[in-house]
Amino acid sequence: MTSYASVSELIRGEAPDSPLLCFSPASINERVKQFLTHFPGETGWAVKSNPHPLVVRAVIEAGIRAFDVASRHEIDLILQHCPSATLHFNHPVKAPEDIAYAWHSAGIRSFAIDCPEELEKIDAVLDGAGEEARRDTVLTIRFRNTRPAGTGNYSFDEKFGARPGEAAGLLRRVAGLGYRTGLTFHPGSQNRDPESYATLVDLARGIAAESFARGTAALAHINVGGGFPCFYPGGPEPELKTYFAAIANAASSIACPIICEPGRALVAESANLLTRINLRRKDDPRLYINEGIYGSFMETPFVDFQPPVRAYSADGRPFPEAGTYDDFQIWGATCDSLDRLRMPVSLPSAIGTGDFIEFGMMGAYTNATATHFNGMEPARLIAIDEITSWPVGATAAQIHCE
Ligand SMILES: Cc1ncc(COP(=O)(O)O)c(C=O)c1O
Repeated sequence: MTSYASVSELIRGEAPDSPLLCFSPASINERVKQFLTHFPGETGWAVKSNPHPLVVRAVIEAGIRAFDVASRHEIDLILQHCPSATLHFNHPVKAPEDIAYAWHSAGIRSFAIDCPEELEKIDAVLDGAGEEARRDTVLTIRFRNTRPAGTGNYSFDEKFGARPGEAAGLLRRVAGLGYRTGLTFHPGSQNRDPESYATLVDLARGIAAESFARGTAALAHINVGGGFPCFYPGGPEPELKTYFAAIANAASSIACPIICEPGRALVAESANLLTRINLRRKDDPRLYINEGIYGSFMETPFVDFQPPVRAYSADGRPFPEAGTYDDFQIWGATCDSLDRLRMPVSLPSAIGTGDFIEFGMMGAYTNATATHFNGMEPARLIAIDEITSWPVGATAAQIHCE
């Protein structure tokens, strides 16, 4: 293994011709610590945000022991790295075979549902396991906000979630069958409105009150989901502590534990993506890089945030921050014309073919969603000790290349 002291040295030493995700476990530690210290309940992690084994290990080493899993593969992955983990199978729509695998083989006792049909699937899997099986299992009803607060980015409420009235009926039915019960929601990814969590916790309290004389005391938990943002330089996102305060405030009269399962907020800031410019045409604002929306940039067409950038020349020297800059269009590596970044990117006017662009905050929903379209390999993830920070902070240090 070769180690490099900076991105500049990495470029000089390796001249990487394919994209690299430079990943820092130390950054995960920092974010996990914030949640473990200040979130008013238990913090889990949504594995789907980055299932790379190095990332999974870093999250576990940072102290996370509860996980939102969406598939058999994620179940096996987490149990392989942390056999004592608590797993919540919170995908609201599951294959019957996966429910059976989760309950019988992996010992999972927590599932999310949002309709009677999904309840029937789970009940059929447990049929024959006896009343004790139901008593051991928490079914958490996913509900949706019927008046979404407009959190700035994509909502999950069109795809999943019972209306509050339906959720109350389902909760009663689930409890009547002998299961333990919970409530959950997802307030929209990269959420920018801490009060939307408070609104949804209030809604959960109302649903529990409609269902049970004991209200929230009858619940095993309220899961406030993911959605917590990461922080782009100069972005409009409030600080995490504002979200924690809003949740703590709304939860002060709740009689059951509060849990959460962020994805992006724990891992987005832990990786930067190093890409190379494969072509700049003369007098043309289009730059063609060796990565794109079928790789690490899958999310960019759908969101209004864009990673910060830093430019390096082909021999690894960072372009000066104070030079002349222009707006460029970034086009992706495949032949597909959809393959481009939606927003223009400000880069040194002199940038050209063979130079490098480092994109920050690329640790969530990047390698996790990358494809092999056009025969191209997803970006390789490598470990670094310290990550480049923005706006003008330290550049990455101690990069380890196999
Ligand atoms: C059930 C569930 N929980 C948590 C998350 C994580 O969301 P985020 O990355 O916005 O925190 C997701 C994302 O898809 C999800 O589906």
